[in-house]
Amino acid sequence: MEYLLRGDICYSENLKTLICKENAYLHIKDGLCQGVYDSLPKELSSVELKDYSGDLILPGMVDLHLHAPQYGFRGTKMDLELLDWLNVNTFPEEAKYQNLDYAERGYRDFVEDLRESATTRAVIFGTLHKNATLLLMKLLEESGLVSYVGKVNMDRNSPEYLTEHTAEESLKNTKEWLSEIPKDWQNCKPILTPRFTPTCSDALMEGLGKLAKEYKLPVQSHLSENLGEIAWVKELCPDAKHYGDTYDRYGLLENSIMAHCVYTEGEELSALKARGTMICHCPQSNTNLCSGAAPIRYFLEENVKVGLGTDVAGGANLSMLRAITDAISVSKLRFRLMDQSLVPLTLEEAFCLATLSGGSFFGKVGSFLPGYEGDALVFHEKRRSVRKQTVKERLEVLLYTGEESARLQAKFVQGRQLF
Ligand code: GUN
Ligand code: FE
Repeated sequence: MEYLLRGDICYSENLKTLICKENAYLHIKDGLCQGVYDSLPKELSSVELKDYSGDLILPGMVDLHLHAPQYGFRGTKMDLELLDWLNVNTFPEEAKYQNLDYAERGYRDFVEDLRESATTRAVIFGTLHKNATLLLMKLLEESGLVSYVGKVNMDRNSPEYLTEHTAEESLKNTKEWLSEIPKDWQNCKPILTPRFTPTCSDALMEGLGKLAKEYKLPVQSHLSENLGEIAWVKELCPDAKHYGDTYDRYGLLENSIMAHCVYTEGEELSALKARGTMICHCPQSNTNLCSGAAPIRYFLEENVKVGLGTDVAGGANLSMLRAITDAISVSKLRFRLMDQSLVPLTLEEAFCLATLSGGSFFGKVGSFLPGYEGDALVFHEKRRSVRKQTVKERLEVLLYTGEESARLQAKFVQGRQLF
């Protein structure tokens, strides 16, 4: 498979450098980016040309954190803080995924919409139900998107209708789930998913840490998201050095994504840095659930890995374009209202978080630099502004206005065209 995409191409080289090229050529061969050229290189003149002249071509977006079973109530039930929101809204809905017919309908909606979105890679929570999670994985495998999916673990402080009762039961279900994942699946892989410390006993965390090592599996969870949650973790784990230590003492910060980290600092941040943990910033969710404004500038200054997530249904929609601009907006409020030493994120930085930076969890993903996987989006703008605008300005308009101003015209994952 070899072709060229022609159009107005934008991609990150690093956090500070966003390349924007008008009427340029992206060469993709065997699923990998080979280079971006200002004019058609002579030796490529016979290669198939997919001509999107006048359209914007961007790397696929990487959503590092979202909950598939919460998709059905997205955009509703936002007037509670995290712990009440879980008990009143989330747990009763997730319990319905015991029923495979309900799960199939809910997960089909989710996967169809995710496929049509700007997201090419996603890291997803299912529920604690093994069979529903396998069904979600099958649908994602067939979608052509690349994803990690976790069967959730929860064995304490959970309602009777949504719990695995004991660490043994939870670990047994997890091993069964892992053993039933077809070996030939290419696109969808498992990720261990202790929901968060309040709903996971030490015995469960310890067992999952061992499983992660034994099966060489990545891990995802939530960390230091909301003040009520953080106070509860202190009560539950009085001997832990910090919230992050409740994972770290079982090896669960390595090869892992920790969502939120709104209140992470000091020793907790040092632990994440030492383990190479990826922080997933979910600005819309943190606003909706009154969690706060994460100090992303501080994390970047400390060279900790950071990506972006929608956290559906804490976040109301699947748009990673919106997650980019929400990250900027939240950083501005934080700067103005909380701490003027942390300057707001720039467009370049926030774009990089959603692509190259978060993409690193999947390998060489999220850019058009040579050797990166061929994940690309083509956006057709409905109209151009009356003003003359640069490619970068058109990208900004797209990020801030999304579907209002542009249509996702084509989508490529690992070089395969989905539509
Ligand atoms: N912490 C534990 N579970 C959840 C969840 O489903 N959503 C969010 N935002 N935080 C959580
Ligand atoms: Fe979440």
